[in-house]
Amino acid sequence: MKFTRAKRLHGEVAAPGDKSISHRGVMFGSIANGTTEIRHYLQGADCLSTISCFRNMGIDIENRGDAVLVHGKGMRGLACPRAPLDCGNSGTTVRLLSGILAAQNFKVTLTGDASIQKRPMKRIMEPLTLMGACIKSIRGNGCAPLEITGSPLRGIHYTSAVASAQVKSAILLAGLYADGQTSVTEPYLSRNHSEIMLKHFGAHVHTEGTTAVISPAQELHGNLIHVPGDISSAAYFICAGLMVPNSEILIKNVGINPTRAGILQVCQSMGGRISVLNETWDFGEPTADILVRSSSLHGTVIEGSLIPALIDELPMIAAMACFADGKTVIRNAGELKVKESNRIEVMVQNLSAMGADVAETEDGMIIHGGKPLHGAVIDSRLDHRIAMTFAVTGLCAEGETQILGAECVKISYPEFYETLENLMR
Ligand code: S3P
Repeated sequence: MKFTRAKRLHGEVAAPGDKSISHRGVMFGSIANGTTEIRHYLQGADCLSTISCFRNMGIDIENRGDAVLVHGKGMRGLACPRAPLDCGNSGTTVRLLSGILAAQNFKVTLTGDASIQKRPMKRIMEPLTLMGACIKSIRGNGCAPLEITGSPLRGIHYTSAVASAQVKSAILLAGLYADGQTSVTEPYLSRNHSEIMLKHFGAHVHTEGTTAVISPAQELHGNLIHVPGDISSAAYFICAGLMVPNSEILIKNVGINPTRAGILQVCQSMGGRISVLNETWDFGEPTADILVRSSSLHGTVIEGSLIPALIDELPMIAAMACFADGKTVIRNAGELKVKESNRIEVMVQNLSAMGADVAETEDGMIIHGGKPLHGAVIDSRLDHRIAMTFAVTGLCAEGETQILGAECVKISYPEFYETLENLMR
């Protein structure tokens, strides 16, 4: 896939359904009683992996495209799958599913693609083991494939070293099946979609600062879920609208949960012209339309509690910082190294190839913006967020940018290139 400089971007975008919320809808719907209807479900490969895992455990799931119907069988209704469950590229699927499977009465293997088999799983193995789970990394390297033998679980209090919604959610889901209360404290608050949605399904969950507390549940009940647009997908158009001259883009129905919306704060602090319009609430999640116009940007510092609220947007923000005057510092973002690729290394390599002044640090990047970028051959390393970041960056560079492995956007945003092209017309 090749990109050259865009003269302007203009029009409206309907962001695809939120990936995190889509996964959770199928997972919680499968262990609830009754039918859960999920509207605006993300039809990306990661969320399709979650559907396929639950189908393989005997759950009837109708995927009608516009809506997904999950015919839940209750907290004890999953059946032992005949083969290892394939989670594809999806960290959310492996980690959240581990929390549920730890408490079942069967043995199962969870696996996935080459990238997932390199991602750290000790972060969930440790707390789940403390709860009494029997979970082992088959190759002994702390990564998938994982073999989980369902066991009785006990409630614990766990202090997590990382602010990770996947770790927190795995523990909370196991906590539904435990013999007493379970709580998780994280250094900073990570996305709270599990807490919000579990409450709607009838679980007793509450939050005290950065601690989430859950009580064991007898049963969850099915629900109607409207999935908001994914701010992590909207991020490419938010930044593109600010970066490409003469642009104006309206992105409709975007989830702006404060645990996810750090990008809005950063864009505003960089001088971005952003308006948040038509705010409403749906199923406990705030949503809004976001209007962006090309802006003259300046550098900023991104750190601390803001990091979990924009962790998946940092590659795009780092690229945007190359077009901002002055210095941008990203720190406390070591988690970027254990995403679908090492996103610090991959960003620094690819931005440098385009002529940017960017340096890798122990837990982030330092970018001196304002140097014009030129096209280059970009290896996405099959990381969807890297491919989308450089498609947008290519629109602001001199010459041609070629993205290798561009098709990996199907993980979270199958219509991404089409949508981007429509804005150039
Ligand atoms: C996710 C949590 C984040 C995020 C990922 C989706 C989730 O990961 O990067 O894309 O759905 O809970 P961590 O929890 O590992 O930070």
